[in-house]
Amino acid sequence: MQKTQDFIQSNRERFMAELFDLLRIPSISADPAFSADVHSCAAFVAERLKEAGADAVEICPTAGYPIVYGEKIIDPALPTVLVYGHYDVQPAVPLELWTTPPFEPEIRNERIYARGSADDKGQFYMHLKAFEAMWASGELPCNVKFMIEGEEEVGSNNLSTFVKNEKQRLAADMVLISDTSMLGNDTPSIDVGLRGLSYVEVEVTGPNRDLHSGVYGGAVANPINILSRMIAQMHDDQGRIAIPGFYADVVALSEADRKALNSAPFDVEEYKKDLGIEALHGEEGFSTFERTGTRPTLDVNGIWGGYTGEGAKTVLPSKAYAKISMRLVPNQRSETITQLFSDYFKSIAPPSVQVEVRPHHGGEPVVTPSDSPEFKAASLAMKATFGKEPIPTRGGGSIPIVALFEKELGLKSVLMGFGLDIDALHSPNESYGVFNFYKGIETIPWFFHHYAQIK
Ligand code: BES
Ligand code: MN
Ligand code: MN
Repeated sequence: MQKTQDFIQSNRERFMAELFDLLRIPSISADPAFSADVHSCAAFVAERLKEAGADAVEICPTAGYPIVYGEKIIDPALPTVLVYGHYDVQPAVPLELWTTPPFEPEIRNERIYARGSADDKGQFYMHLKAFEAMWASGELPCNVKFMIEGEEEVGSNNLSTFVKNEKQRLAADMVLISDTSMLGNDTPSIDVGLRGLSYVEVEVTGPNRDLHSGVYGGAVANPINILSRMIAQMHDDQGRIAIPGFYADVVALSEADRKALNSAPFDVEEYKKDLGIEALHGEEGFSTFERTGTRPTLDVNGIWGGYTGEGAKTVLPSKAYAKISMRLVPNQRSETITQLFSDYFKSIAPPSVQVEVRPHHGGEPVVTPSDSPEFKAASLAMKATFGKEPIPTRGGGSIPIVALFEKELGLKSVLMGFGLDIDALHSPNESYGVFNFYKGIETIPWFFHHYAQIK
């Protein structure tokens, strides 16, 4: 791997310049106003894949945004690694909270500031550059296939169809993904689990029109007041979710698993300081790692209605809305949980209002083995570049397609992410460490090296 590592060292500046070009494309999948940019981002990725040496590069159209595919089959007898990533990003609003504009990348304090720098452009691009370095150096030890999609941030619906229809093309031995974070730059870790997701939007309707809050207030239900009460009934005083049956399928962790999870280094004071909070909040009886990695949650992601403009308007609104997400753990199922939510939400609505529950996307939780050949290869790779073996952790976020890779392709994934919690994913001032970008490019070839030997 020496030639590969030398190649990386002598191309560092160019790699960063290319990443900057990628970060300049506002490929926001959620907002149709950016549709042309999402498409041009796919074209950009396809070009870079070709330049890196990939064959059969194709911008595969879907009912939504395209999937960029490319491969290098050096010998069908060798193992094949399927690399997955996403070139779409979250919306960048509120723009005024960014120190520098989200699509004008800039390095400050050794960090790359831009929307998508960590999630996931900076991370999937490491794989293109690691591949380029291995191929150019004549040191690519196994086959590789790339599948970079443009709809991860909106639920990967069309990718599901693609995966089901393209089993032959996607045949591989495992999936390698860099779209998660580590405990720290001195504490490498690998997520061996991700939470699932149920996402719903609720609408509460009171009177048939907005009313004068003096003329009618006190006699007619205010849907915002009602919605607030209903949301307050989602949790009990112990921080547990009050929806009947919500925990029925949750698998309790073994004492050994709990112990292992809680042995990872964690500084609660640092954690609170970083977030500017005096105290933590959550389900009683569980540690922070357990709460974020192994317990289901329910959070309101947005709530609106009535008057929110300048000054005051005395209105009793006709409608109130909220977006609510639930993070799921093994063996909860997204469809079941959405149904339980809907039934409960309707059951607690007073007769003075009407409610509607509209399901959005969902995704199933996953646990990946930490004793598999692919985990071992990732472990050895991180040992080679960090000097320490990674700690297995449970990630709180969701990558719904991971469960589908297992179900449809029979493939396990390794979540070898290089981000950090401070990257501010989905937030203003998202950033990715310069260290992390290069460390990822250096580590990935070691993964291929060890995987080819172990497999
Ligand atoms: N890369 C994240 C998921 C993630 C981040 C997992 C950090 C673990 C640690 C991914 O892009 C993401 O944001 N997923 C969404 C779900 C999707 C269906 C919108 C999420 O977790 O909210
Ligand atoms: Mn991501
Ligand atoms: Mn994301």
